[in-house]
Amino acid sequence: MFDRQKKGDRALLVLPHSRGEGDAVRRGEEFAELVKSAGAEILGVIPARVEAPNPRFYIGTGKTDEVAEMARAVEADVVLVDHLLTPVQERNLEKHLGVRVVDRAGLILDIFAQRARSHEGKLEVELAQLKHIATRLVRGWTHLDAQRGGAIGNRGPGETQLETDRRLLGERVKQLTRRLEKVQTQRGQQRRARLRNTVPRVALVGYTNAGKSTLFNALTTGGVYAADQLFATLDPTVRKVDDLSCGPAVIADTVGFIRDLPHDLVAAFRGTLAEARDADLLLHVCDAADEDRERLRQVVDGVLEEIDAGDLPQLQVMNKIDLAGSEPHIVRDGEGRPTQVWLSAATGAGLALLREALGELLGGERLQSALSLPLSAGRLHARLKAAGAIVGERIDEDGWHLDIDAPRSVIAPLSGGLDADAVLLRDLLERTALPVE
Ligand code: GTP
Repeated sequence: MFDRQKKGDRALLVLPHSRGEGDAVRRGEEFAELVKSAGAEILGVIPARVEAPNPRFYIGTGKTDEVAEMARAVEADVVLVDHLLTPVQERNLEKHLGVRVVDRAGLILDIFAQRARSHEGKLEVELAQLKHIATRLVRGWTHLDAQRGGAIGNRGPGETQLETDRRLLGERVKQLTRRLEKVQTQRGQQRRARLRNTVPRVALVGYTNAGKSTLFNALTTGGVYAADQLFATLDPTVRKVDDLSCGPAVIADTVGFIRDLPHDLVAAFRGTLAEARDADLLLHVCDAADEDRERLRQVVDGVLEEIDAGDLPQLQVMNKIDLAGSEPHIVRDGEGRPTQVWLSAATGAGLALLREALGELLGGERLQSALSLPLSAGRLHARLKAAGAIVGERIDEDGWHLDIDAPRSVIAPLSGGLDADAVLLRDLLERTALPVE
């Protein structure tokens, strides 16, 4: 199914920009990083001013000729365009330039395909690639068969499949969708099992290359792959941390966010971001040494909004202080809650402060209350007991009379859902005048 080719791509980059865009240089650098992540060699970069997109090529006709000339001169085997192209534009450009053309979505998909590690991640990537290709199948890609070589855009669902039968493609999409649903149901069940254990969950999020994997390793002393390539992590990796003052917590690494992630891809990768959506606390990792960090932070917050994780509590980690020349410290808000920890995941400076802040935020305020449960609430009683929240109990014909003493973070997941137990617990806690968020 996969036609992978060993040869690295020799790429020519086209960077469309319009007059109003102030950060064209930064965007160009970032696109170049993405291209290197995909394993391609950059032969040249051509900026292209686009005020009104040309429906045929997206970039202007004169610019297309310039790109064609340069592609020939440097013997590029792929032209990578930092914008989304319609299937027709991509095809027209390929015809005109005589080399493969891959747009931003195709490039990101290619990187995802190289990085996907878990079963679910691989299924998601293949599905997204098939859908991407399906839109480009209308009249086939035969005009390029002779020249096709290299890797970018050829990785993934193979050419042969593509040329033979659209019906097969449709069936494969259906099959993958079914498998993915099954994997996601299983994952959902695992998540619920974790919820029942009431261990607080932390998800690491952040702009790509901010240092999430490095921090994840430092906190969990595990061996997650960290590399100086964008998107080193695709699948959330989940581990337990035991050395926090609030007791054990579960921590998940997630895929790096990136600006202009094509909307279809956000949808396709929702599964890989599920850990972030279901977390009790987001650790938002920023590169303190990056002068553009404030804007990148906003990009991440924007994507978090898109996946319905915008309202979750956040602790910001200002990473790479060894490069930024700052000292490890905690920043607190007016009520003394930690909001930022400055550290270096690579040198370990400030990690103890992060553990301290996590302990405070996750342990948080304790909930101490007397609680009476009817005898019919046996399951809730068992769940509170399993969570270690019951410090004293007495039973009579009216039910259990409990003394509850536990961090709010332990009780919150139990009382946060829509199931009968959660509703009952919320109701009882409200009556004892101890609101639970
Ligand atoms: P993606 O998976 O692409 O989203 O990246 P990530 O956020 O997981 O970043 P990763 O941990 O792979 O780190 C990216 C690069 O930054 C690697 O080369 C790390 O060695 C480096 N790095 C991470 N933390 C620090 C730090 O505290 N100081 C310095 N100097 N480099 C760091």
